[in-house]
Amino acid sequence: MQQRPIGNTVLDEGALDLIIRGGTVIDGTRAPRFDADVGISKGKIVAIGDLSQRQAGQVLHARGRIVAPGFIDSHTHDDQALLSQPDMSFKVSQGVTTVVTGNCGISIAPLRAGAPMPAPLNLLDAGTQPPFETLRGYLDALRAKPAAVNVAALVGHSSLRVNVMPDLEREANADEIAAMRSLLEESLDAGAIGLSTGTFYPPAAKASTEEIIAIGQSLTSRKGVFTTHMRDESDQVMVALDETFRIGKALDVRVVISHHKVMNKPNFGRSAQTLAHIRKTMQCQCVALDCYPYTAGSTMIRTERAMLDGRMVIATSVPHPECAGREITDIAAEWGVDKEEAARRLQPGSAIYFLMDEADVQSILAFDETMIGSDGIPLGDKPHPRLWGTFPRVLGHYSRELGLFPLETAVWKMTGLTANNFGLTGRGTLAVGQCADVVVFDADTVLDRASYDDPTQAAVGIDAVVVNGTLTWQHGKHLGARSGQVIMRADAPAN
Ligand code: ZN
Ligand code: CU
Repeated sequence: MQQRPIGNTVLDEGALDLIIRGGTVIDGTRAPRFDADVGISKGKIVAIGDLSQRQAGQVLHARGRIVAPGFIDSHTHDDQALLSQPDMSFKVSQGVTTVVTGNCGISIAPLRAGAPMPAPLNLLDAGTQPPFETLRGYLDALRAKPAAVNVAALVGHSSLRVNVMPDLEREANADEIAAMRSLLEESLDAGAIGLSTGTFYPPAAKASTEEIIAIGQSLTSRKGVFTTHMRDESDQVMVALDETFRIGKALDVRVVISHHKVMNKPNFGRSAQTLAHIRKTMQCQCVALDCYPYTAGSTMIRTERAMLDGRMVIATSVPHPECAGREITDIAAEWGVDKEEAARRLQPGSAIYFLMDEADVQSILAFDETMIGSDGIPLGDKPHPRLWGTFPRVLGHYSRELGLFPLETAVWKMTGLTANNFGLTGRGTLAVGQCADVVVFDADTVLDRASYDDPTQAAVGIDAVVVNGTLTWQHGKHLGARSGQVIMRADAPAN
């Protein structure tokens, strides 16, 4: 670790709002760490270097600590929580300063009033806030009542389907495709960063590859991204990858494979095959992927045999809230029914499914270009621990304890890489001129504490979190600031 050889990089010679003194900077580009003070003014990073002669309204002492760009959660379902739980403690406490919403085909906008919310769309429904007919309306609501973190919004294909299709059990017809395409276009013009699909789920399972390509046309000229919870992450995962690549190629856009995984025992070890295929495809088109650091997933309660294959723990259940936190096998035994029937009776709701192998999770996390995304579902008292633990778990458990990759790489996977993949300009790196989203953490102690039994525990080792220049989290406490901004797609027409 050395002092940066070049002199101070300074944009602003006047008094600063905030100086983070004496820390070690990991700048989010994967470059080696260096010791420097960081100066912040008017929401921007304005100076990096020796700022011992500079004054500031507020000083954070960071000796022995890492100073890094605020983490970007590449995969969230926080659409509703940003408005109903605007402190966003489950994210800020991890050092997250930006969330990408609208994943897996489900977004809170655009959704016309009274539109049905079939599962998994109901995972967005906290009951306090009706959905938004336009993405612009949603982003305006966030501007009027900001959350504690920044937001970049995707439009969900299943949400589009619910808007225009009276029957989801078939492919869309030409008129419906045209209607969905224009909803997507309007949303992109309002600042959406791209389109997500979730063909794994019932509301979109009947959509063909052609339907998605036809709807996604407007992504091409607007350089939107295409993210996908693929049709299959189990036996047919290679076919699903090819479908994803085909869509990306046809639209000439970057594809993001969401929460890449291989599920079910017979597929354990197949990440070797999927990652090799992804690596090869990356040579001829833009492919990105994210991953959460756990062997269990979490989604709506399903009854398919493949989903009931491993341990399954109920997270939420509308008809049986008392079952939250309990194993499906115990519930089924108590009710004297099989697991399938128990799952049916517990619907609608969400559950945690233990269907992955640790070795695959590690291979996927360690794959160079894999971003970190939580896929947390901010509902109920017994969520999957990834909601509160993802980022500190990668830093503390996978980087420090297991040595899966250096800390600089870990930080890059949650900052610079992600900002680049999603086109989030001004974010993701710690450099002069960038937005002042910053996290200060202790590399020796940072660790997740959220567990399956006690899933809403804040992490340890996150000292301070700054969002757009405002100190938002310090010493394990939320300071009440809500200075998150809406991040528009870089080339969206100005509002
Ligand atoms: Zn998903
Ligand atoms: Cu998801």
